[in-house]
Amino acid sequence: MGTIAVRYCSKTKMGNTRRIAEAIAEGAEVTAVSILDEPKLTEKTDLLLLGGAPYANIMAPELREYAESLDPALIGEVVLFTTSNWSRRTVIALKKILREKGITVADSYFYAHMLQIESKMEAAKQFGAKFR
Ligand SMILES: Cc1cc2nc3c(=O)[nH]c(=O)nc-3n(C[C@H](O)[C@H](O)[C@H](O)COP(=O)(O)O)c2cc1C
Repeated sequence: MGTIAVRYCSKTKMGNTRRIAEAIAEGAEVTAVSILDEPKLTEKTDLLLLGGAPYANIMAPELREYAESLDPALIGEVVLFTTSNWSRRTVIALKKILREKGITVADSYFYAHMLQIESKMEAAKQFGAKFR
């Protein structure tokens, strides 16, 4: 299927988005990388699985900057994932940023409620496995 990258921004000690990212990456047979560790995507990537969460109604500024700095020439398509208490705002805002840059973003995305991370691990793995 080409090259797959999993990138995520996870801020709480619980690491909800990190755990979902790692399960998706396991399914896709790649390694999940935090954008806080690697703030630029430099490799050509056919599919970028990108995830984050809202904090006080907005995504982390690091994630916004990451999305804004992505090079459309390097990316085939983006598929999003998110965790939160109730809001889907992060995916909506990411879709807008990326599409305005001319990057293709899949309409569907993976969501896990912050209190259901454990029970969503298998589904996240299956979600990642679809792409490999
Ligand atoms: C300071 C703070 C503010 C939050 N604000 C929101 C919010 O506005 N809407 C929402 O749905 N969830 C909110 N949440 C819940 C987080 O989005 C949720 O816990 C998420 O899974 C955190 O991901 P992480 O563990 O990867 O950082 C907030 C969490 C924290 C710690």
